[in-house]
Amino acid sequence: MMQEQITQYTTEINTFHPDSAAELEAFRIRFLGTKGLIKDLFDQFKTVSPEEKRTLGKTLNEFKQLAETKYQSLKEQLETQPEKTALKDDLTLPGEGFQLGSRHPLSLVRNEIIDIFKRLGFIIAEGPEIEDDWHNFSALNFPEEHPARDMQDTFFISKKSPADSGEAAGDIALRTHTSSVQVRMMEAGKPPFRAIMPGRVYRNEAISARAHCFFHQVEGLYVDENVSFADLKQTLYHFVLELYGEGTKVRFRPSYFPFTEPSAEMDVSCSICKGAGCQMCKYSGWVEILGCGMVDPNVLENCGIDPEKYTGFAFGMGIERITNLKYQIRDLRLFSENDIRFLKQFQTEIS
Ligand code: DAH
Repeated sequence: MMQEQITQYTTEINTFHPDSAAELEAFRIRFLGTKGLIKDLFDQFKTVSPEEKRTLGKTLNEFKQLAETKYQSLKEQLETQPEKTALKDDLTLPGEGFQLGSRHPLSLVRNEIIDIFKRLGFIIAEGPEIEDDWHNFSALNFPEEHPARDMQDTFFISKKSPADSGEAAGDIALRTHTSSVQVRMMEAGKPPFRAIMPGRVYRNEAISARAHCFFHQVEGLYVDENVSFADLKQTLYHFVLELYGEGTKVRFRPSYFPFTEPSAEMDVSCSICKGAGCQMCKYSGWVEILGCGMVDPNVLENCGIDPEKYTGFAFGMGIERITNLKYQIRDLRLFSENDIRFLKQFQTEIS
């Protein structure tokens, strides 16, 4: 009789899953209370025969242990995860909120760059990531043998082969820079042009902390009558002050790009050590952030714009580079690994 009862209660205990603290308390009173079932069983135990006592004693003690352990563990669970059990009862409480993500650091910096140029009256333009040789190279005045056209740098989608013929023969590639969008813009419209062109670009590089097979750039173009190098300097200087703050210094170093003449690279005083010298600026106090120059007359002509009447400046910068400097990130691979521990460090209000 007692044995049967114990078996039945054991099943009941094992399948007990309370939804609230109140249910757990009812369980305690039913089994472990001073007038509970266990007390009752122990009372019955006193009346059984000595032979029965020998086997039943052990079973009864084990059963008591089971009830106590179950109660203790449920109680702890309820204390540590109250929302899973107790709160279910209170229907007036607000629902569980969704976990919000955060903006990717590259998006944050891209938006910041866009905002600065928007305030200067630049519009935003975009172009295709799969480009032809004309827009990516030829129209931009790249000589036929220029190393940037090389297979080492460019992901070709269709290869040039002697057997190829016709228009589309072998000159489709993933764009290697956003300068191609300049060409598309100038071909499609009439001056003045004042635009920035953010986008993803691709290069055939081995992936490491310092190089990746894809990254992001923002291209800028300003073409009108009487645009001068002074306009270029002033625009970019203003951009840098907005981006890195008052007091940031800039310097222009002569450089070469096929599509600009003259060309320059722009350095800014290191925003991390303020020019004193640190690992980020390789102890020089300066970091290069972009390439720029006056649009080469050949490029204007290739796009159907009269270089006698119009002049312009262009610039291009890598968003990863600017982001690295801003957040002191030393490994490019982090941007595309989607590691939540990295991404959540850039919590911002999603708007
Ligand atoms: N397209 C160049 C690159 O990918 C960056 C650049 C340099 C763009 C000078 C420009 C420029 O428009 O004027 O390295």
